Parts: sequence; structure tokens; C-alpha cells
Amino acid sequence: MQRIAILTSGGDAPGMNAAIRATTRAAIAQGWDVFGARNGYDGLLADDLSPLLARDVGGIIQRGGTVLGSARCVEIRESAGRAKALANLARRKIDALIVIGGNGSQTASSLLAKEGFPVMGIASTIDNDLYGTDVTIGVDTAVNVTLEAIDRLRTTGSSLQRAFLVETMGRNCGYIALMAGIAGGAEVIVTPEHPVEPQVVAARLRAAYDRGKTHAIAVVAEGSHHDAEALLQHFDEHQDTLGFELRVTRLGHVVRGGVPTAFDRVLATRLGAAAVERLARGEKGMLMGLSGGEVVATPLEESAGRAKPLDMNLLDLARVMAQ
Ligand code: F6P
Repeated sequence: MQRIAILTSGGDAPGMNAAIRATTRAAIAQGWDVFGARNGYDGLLADDLSPLLARDVGGIIQRGGTVLGSARCVEIRESAGRAKALANLARRKIDALIVIGGNGSQTASSLLAKEGFPVMGIASTIDNDLYGTDVTIGVDTAVNVTLEAIDRLRTTGSSLQRAFLVETMGRNCGYIALMAGIAGGAEVIVTPEHPVEPQVVAARLRAAYDRGKTHAIAVVAEGSHHDAEALLQHFDEHQDTLGFELRVTRLGHVVRGGVPTAFDRVLATRLGAAAVERLARGEKGMLMGLSGGEVVATPLEESAGRAKPLDMNLLDLARVMAQ
């Protein structure tokens, strides 16, 4: 192994830069040359790669987003696209590729691995829905950003006895809503995996007031069957009977931006270094993740396209705590 390429792909996640830094420096420590592809798989297709030296990845550990840029590349899913990418890697004599990204990105990396190219995946998405890891790079920050919003809304909600609905990210996965909802003491948590009817959301918020609470907060993942817009419409139509006002805050991409937490930086550093270490040992085609606090490697073909299910016991716990 002499030359490796690194890319970040899909939705950016806080901590991706820490993973770029870790893989680059761990590879340099092995005596390898490192190249960064610009804007994910698009950079492989366009042959847009530049050398990464130890100093190039200095001062980025605390920065959100990704200094390499990212993209949701469609072409890499087609065999013609992959052939083009592999030809560019071969021309540059690149021996292995490290892909930092979430579900879609690792599905593509598993296809490249299947075609015989040495690839290592690093689990990174705010959604935390990758099979093969307890936690992905970025989700801790995303949960904490959502939690800060909930805490802030609770203070204003308590002052005016209003109900608040916070919509956070998660198109197919309610992990951020669930964890931030538990940590923020939400009265209701709505996820794509567990639909809740608008009248049930309203009843639970109403019940919170009836039990003497001065605030009532619902946390909703954006991909839920009844999202913030649908729930607000229900409240508007039934405000007279409900007897309280609802205000909606949609956090959107705010959840994904900003400074990574210490947890995400350390996780990214551990997974990045482990990906290089395993490549050096001759391993390939693995997704680097964390299980029971230890770094683990899962074959990409096993994890690709498989979503990690939400822990429904935690939803039950949240309901008990909301009493
Ligand atoms: O990367 C995951 C994610 O942030 C999801 O939580 C969200 O639903 C989606 O990406 C948003 O995608 P985009 O940034 O392309 O609008």
C-alpha cells in the first residue's frame, strides 16, 4: 500500500473533518501518500483529487461540514460510473479508498468493493441509521443542537403556557428526535418509524397542561408521516376545542451545521485511524463503527442498504418519563 484516496459523501456531518484529519495523518504515519477527492464520488468521476499533507488537515478538527466538499452522487450507483471512477483511481495508481459517509455513500462503497477495489467505509451521518455501528460520526452533535433548541423553547413556552413543536432532521430515521426528545423531556416524540396521529399528539400535549405542567413540547422528525406542517394544520383547525396555542420551530439544516462535539471528534479520530490500521494489515471492504465502546469492522456487503432499527424501548421510556 502506497497511495490512498479519501472522500466525504452524502449529507455532511459534524466530525467529518476530524475523520479526514485522522485518516490523513494515520496514513502519513504509515509512509503512504494521501489524496483527497473533491465533492465526494463526483471528485472520483471528474478526477478531481489533490494531495493531502499533514499540514493541509491542520486546524480543521473543530470545524463542521467537510473541507473536501460532499455531494449526493447518482452516477456512482451505475456500473458505468463506477468503471470511470475506478479507471481514474488506477491511472493515479491509488491502492485504496476511504469513504466517510452514511447509508447511500456506503452502499456505493460496497459496490466498489464488490468490484474488487480495496475500500474502507467510515460511518458518518447525523441520522445514525447505519447497520454495523451503535453510533455514527455527527449524530451526537445533531442531538445536542436539537436539545439546545428544546431547552430554549421550554423557557419561553413555560412563560406563556404555550405548546411547542420542534421539527428536527431525519427523513427516514427518528433517532435524533428520539434522543433529543428524551434528553429534553418532551411530552411527545414523533418518528418516521412510529407514526402518531395528530389528535394523539394534541391529546398528549393537552394532558400535560391538565397535569399541571407549564409547558408542553413535541419533537417531530421531519420524515414522519405527520410532519410539523400536518400537525400545525390540525392544531389550527381545532384550536377552539384544544384550548391552547401551538408554535412550530423547524430546525432544518441548522441541526447539521456547526461545531462537532468532543464525542464526535474523538469517534472520528478513532474510526479514521482504525480504517488505516486495518488497511495496513491487508483488510478491505469493511465499515468502521463502534460497538459497546470498541471500534468494530463490519463487512460492507453486510451493512450496505440495511438500516439500523430504532430502539422502540426508548420510545416507551420517553412516554413513561413524560408523565
Ligand atoms: O444526511 C442526512 C440528512 O441530514 C437527513 O437527516 C435529512 O433528512 C437529509 O439529509 C436532508 O438532505 P439534504 O441536505 O440533501 O436536503
